[in-house]
Amino acid sequence: MCGVIGYIGSNATPEFFYNGLKRLEYRGYDSAGIAMMNSDGVFIQRAEGKLNNLQNKLANLPASTRIGIGHTRWATHGKPTESNAHPHRSENIVLLHNGIIENYKSLKDFLITKGYKFQSETDTEVAAHLLNYEYKKLAEEKNSFERIKKAIFSLVSQIHGAFAFGILCTDVPDTLFVIKYGSPIVLGLGKNENYMASGITALVDHTRSIIIMEDKEIAFLNAESISIVDFAGKEVLRKPIEISWSTAMLDKNGYDHYMLKEIHEQPQAVAQTIKGRLDRDIGKINLENYGISKINLKEIERIQIVACGTSYYAGCLARYFIEQFTRIPVEVDLASESRYRTPTVTAKTLSVALSQSGETIDTLQAIKFAKENGAKTLAIVNMPGSTIAHNCHDESLIYAGPEVGVASTKALSAQISSLIILGLALAQEQKKLSSEKIAEYIDELVKIPSLLEKTLTLSSYIEHLSKKFYNALSILFIGRGPQWYVAMEGALKLKELSYIHAEGYAAGELKHGPIALIDENIWSVCIAPKDSYYEKTISNIEEIRARGGKILAVGTEGDENLKSISDEFIGVPECSELIQPFLTTVPLHLLSYWVAVKKGTDVDQPRNLAKSVTVE
Ligand code: F6R
Repeated sequence: MCGVIGYIGSNATPEFFYNGLKRLEYRGYDSAGIAMMNSDGVFIQRAEGKLNNLQNKLANLPASTRIGIGHTRWATHGKPTESNAHPHRSENIVLLHNGIIENYKSLKDFLITKGYKFQSETDTEVAAHLLNYEYKKLAEEKNSFERIKKAIFSLVSQIHGAFAFGILCTDVPDTLFVIKYGSPIVLGLGKNENYMASGITALVDHTRSIIIMEDKEIAFLNAESISIVDFAGKEVLRKPIEISWSTAMLDKNGYDHYMLKEIHEQPQAVAQTIKGRLDRDIGKINLENYGISKINLKEIERIQIVACGTSYYAGCLARYFIEQFTRIPVEVDLASESRYRTPTVTAKTLSVALSQSGETIDTLQAIKFAKENGAKTLAIVNMPGSTIAHNCHDESLIYAGPEVGVASTKALSAQISSLIILGLALAQEQKKLSSEKIAEYIDELVKIPSLLEKTLTLSSYIEHLSKKFYNALSILFIGRGPQWYVAMEGALKLKELSYIHAEGYAAGELKHGPIALIDENIWSVCIAPKDSYYEKTISNIEEIRARGGKILAVGTEGDENLKSISDEFIGVPECSELIQPFLTTVPLHLLSYWVAVKKGTDVDQPRNLAKSVTVE
């Protein structure tokens, strides 16, 4: 969850590290730090809170050195204070870390018996001291590079958990050491300079040539070269890949927040995700372009989708369509729960890991469990070369482009469209739908981007409506069928962005308990487009009305009936049931955005959150 960056070359400046960390700030924003090394020694500056606090300290660092590392933290062990901020130093070792060292307590107790004094509450400082301890033990090794290398092998053999480290050693100033196990690390290749970071986003300003490190690897970066070995010391040869992301994709493009920009990028996110994968003329899904090459869809008898948060809702929502197309049972599992209930998977199960970041540890562990137990595994991710993709048989990218706002928006629409394509692909391979029927669905899918564009014009109306909501203490969201999960998503977004309590419910479930909450002070956001559940949802809205509750309805444009029983009404364009959830999500994302703006909360970086959650 933390962001890390490292550089070796001829011009490591404080601004380089600061700007790189700014690109990674979405990964964690509790505290930050930079270490730069030259012949005068190591210079470390750290600051509590947002990265801006570190900016005021950049002048205390050298104007330029040849090597350095930077870190932005999401606290796991120890409060977000300056003393807990990385990098941590143990004499000649300076180190930063992304991940968790699970056995840090026993190692710390051991190091205390060896006389080490701890300045922080972090598990990371344990690694710094342990590496220093191992380094000192190897005093007979006169080659400093070999000595630190051996000490690193000892370190990785003793620590358990997930870790990515960037390490400086004062005795080896021409090498940046990088370790990867469980937490993501990419290496960037430049001209007489090389980089490391926890995400591609930190490097796109400098290089497009990337090496994605795999677990149990150690990299040695010099200005001119990069070499990699595995934890057994065996050399690893890996070709760099070229990435296509541009810096423009990472900017706000005139919007006040990344979130608003990303909500407005949903039409392109869907268009790019379906592009090249659908052949309307012959009613066919192109499996290869979709990313299915190793898995035989003809054999699949059950589908399991594992995901967290918004991605989980995308899975729950898409289940309705996949089951409708294929009649194959679909189970959607919260990834953090999945493996602990030892789900039944077989060689005929398709387990799908759905994750924007491709790094969420819960999803990773759930899909690893499914794979180990014989399932065929498919990663649907937004980040090329992600850890989750690496652990699956097949990888299908959603082409949403970089999502920087911590709250996921455009990835959701791209994920739903991807899962619909998967459902159609399964139906095609198992001959559950005719090519004519698939062509009809393709006709629907290609309409989504333009209908999304039209729906986005609601933004200023929703901004105006948000005035009524920003003082609310609690808001209910209800819907039926796929709209139940749109309601869940609406509630999640409102909670995380504006800190207003919100609950999403299946509309029919309201009378089984939550209706007790309704009184004249409570708003219910009722999602009721003209679908096959419409009449039933209307009855549930009437039940709220009868108890004095206030209603904001999200329905189909021109639905006077719904409008007449609601206090406020938002109409989305008329469309088929397949498209409706794409459209009804938009006003809910916009509502949570504008309510948060009115409340003055930090829209792109809500408190306590991080974009990619790499701790369980
Ligand atoms: C909510 C949100 C999170 C993520 C969740 C999964 O707005 O962004 O709930 O959806 O942490 O993340 P990924 O999809 O990266 O696995």
